[in-house]
Amino acid sequence: MTGYIPEEKISEIRNAADIVEVVSEVVRLKKTGKNHVGLCPFHTEKTPSFTVNPDKQIFHCFGCGTGGNVFSFLMKHDGTSFPEAVRSLARRYGIDLPQRAPTAQQRRQMAEREQMLAANRAAAGFYRRCLTESKAGQTARHYLKNRRFSSEAIDDFRIGYAPGGWDNLLSELGAKGYSAALLEKCGLVLPKKSGTGHYDRFRERVVFPIMDLNAQVLGFGGRVLDDSLPKYLNSPETSLYNKSRSLYGLCQTKKHCRKTGSVFIVEGYFDLIALYQHGIRNAVATLGTALTAEHVRLLRGCIGSEGRAILVFDSDEAGAAAARRSVSVFDKGYLDAQILTLEAGHDPDTYVFEYGAEAFLNAADAARGAIPFLLDSAVGKYGLSVEGKVRIVSELIEPLAAIGDEIKQSLYIREIAEHLAVDEQAIRLRLQQAGERVTSAGRRQSPDAARQQDGPGIGQAARIERHLMAMMLQMPAVLPDIERNCVLDYFENGELRALGKLILGSFQEKGRQDEVDTAAGGGAADRFVSEILDGVTDDRQRRLITELTSLEEDWSIEGCRKLIAHFAETGRSRSSARDISRKIREAEKNKDDRLLKKLLEEKQQLAVQRDRKRMALTEKL
Ligand code: GTP
Ligand code: MN
Repeated sequence: MTGYIPEEKISEIRNAADIVEVVSEVVRLKKTGKNHVGLCPFHTEKTPSFTVNPDKQIFHCFGCGTGGNVFSFLMKHDGTSFPEAVRSLARRYGIDLPQRAPTAQQRRQMAEREQMLAANRAAAGFYRRCLTESKAGQTARHYLKNRRFSSEAIDDFRIGYAPGGWDNLLSELGAKGYSAALLEKCGLVLPKKSGTGHYDRFRERVVFPIMDLNAQVLGFGGRVLDDSLPKYLNSPETSLYNKSRSLYGLCQTKKHCRKTGSVFIVEGYFDLIALYQHGIRNAVATLGTALTAEHVRLLRGCIGSEGRAILVFDSDEAGAAAARRSVSVFDKGYLDAQILTLEAGHDPDTYVFEYGAEAFLNAADAARGAIPFLLDSAVGKYGLSVEGKVRIVSELIEPLAAIGDEIKQSLYIREIAEHLAVDEQAIRLRLQQAGERVTSAGRRQSPDAARQQDGPGIGQAARIERHLMAMMLQMPAVLPDIERNCVLDYFENGELRALGKLILGSFQEKGRQDEVDTAAGGGAADRFVSEILDGVTDDRQRRLITELTSLEEDWSIEGCRKLIAHFAETGRSRSSARDISRKIREAEKNKDDRLLKKLLEEKQQLAVQRDRKRMALTEKL
């Protein structure tokens, strides 16, 4: 696959791309010293340990150990292949890639995922043409107009129309070389129940492509134009489309979510697009599925951990059910959710068209946290009689128990106790009883506590060797010194030595030409480490590289050179100590007492010297 993209193009893209910019799209970053830090998108954490280094163009998470360059970030985050990551960056930075139409044979060789994406893209294009150009699309155009869709929204969301008939898509895409088997994998066609052959899944429906953050089409949703059932039809889960991971509209709205630090979470396609048309562009739709921890993590990446997530529901009933679930889902993602329910009979779509954006935003200001929301709705339901209060407390126990943050939990307990005029202790007792059941399987382990201590980190020698390795990665200007002094030969840790050899190797391969550039300070143009990473397949080694590169150190080239010289010197004396030991053994064998005495003295002296040097070296670190 990589064969499609010439090496020099990859280089060009690597040089054009800015990892801070790319990561910032999905993670809120704060500058601290040389690095930028934020909450890791690959594991759940409370305090930021995800580090992006703009000079070296790499990222590393000190929490979970994940690391890499801009390509690996995209691959990991979007679950894409290397060529896909390269292509998406090429698109973003306006770099042309050779656009050969793949031959039948090449197409066969394409990774399945890419083939599926291509088929989905082709399908979206077909539906789009049917909506805008075909005669059959007339009714759909009408329908969308009735539902007050603007042509801008239709374009932005790539809305289309699947015409009636059984094989429009099948034959159109079939003629373009997409096999029925592939289309079936994409969920676009279904095998006929009797006999052989396939038929289109989406027929006579307005079609909404469901996209990932890179505007790749993963699946579709289709709505009927009348009252027939089912009202909506969605793509099945495929290897591309995972409901618990995708949020409709995020591709179009992520930058607004980021800008405002907030997001409205609505249920339907129409709700989202109605808000969008009214200028409320920080929104996503869950498409009727329950919000998952992965959704929350995705959103938190956009709005930050202090961001505001507002769940919007049609009614108190639906809202209450969702609020109950959301407490645990959101709390695990270290993000607070607020609940907004609209007046009876309205969903965001009808509401915003009837009352306008301002009224919607005003209503949103009154959104409450999940627990206060549940408290209010329970009070509404049961009243404040003694009986009522007992039932209210019962209803609140489970959501209260789901709160992971103990301070937050205790504040809510107090609030409920005061509101209901019951004893705080009584609520705690109930909670404890429930807790025996809820948390007896072991209280949620803090992911920060599970921080891994990976890599060689023990022992004085390893500490110094790690230090040197970090230096090599962060200050390639020292590499000629490392080489000249044969520093690696004195390494005790084999893993670090191997890594050092790898670094030196690619440095030599790159040629001395760059030596001058890197010596001149590296700076933003220095993609040395990022380049090395593309060649590393071993996970452990990759981690070690990104970790050591991400350590915040204040290097001066003179200081580094001194350290290297020092280390080499102690290394040499260590190996001469080994030499002496060998000679001593020989002298013993030969019973040469005079030589033996002399050698022992030498050895003693060397040891003293070495201790002194090692002390001096350690003090410097
Ligand atoms: P309109 O009636 O067109 O305004 O749609 P809506 O979004 O208001 O519909 P509703 O509130 O009933 O549903 C919210 C979301 O749940 C929809 O956007 C769909 O994603 C999903 N949904 C609703 N009905 C169905 C259905 O019959 N099948 C499936 N798969 N999803 C549905
Ligand atoms: Mn609706």
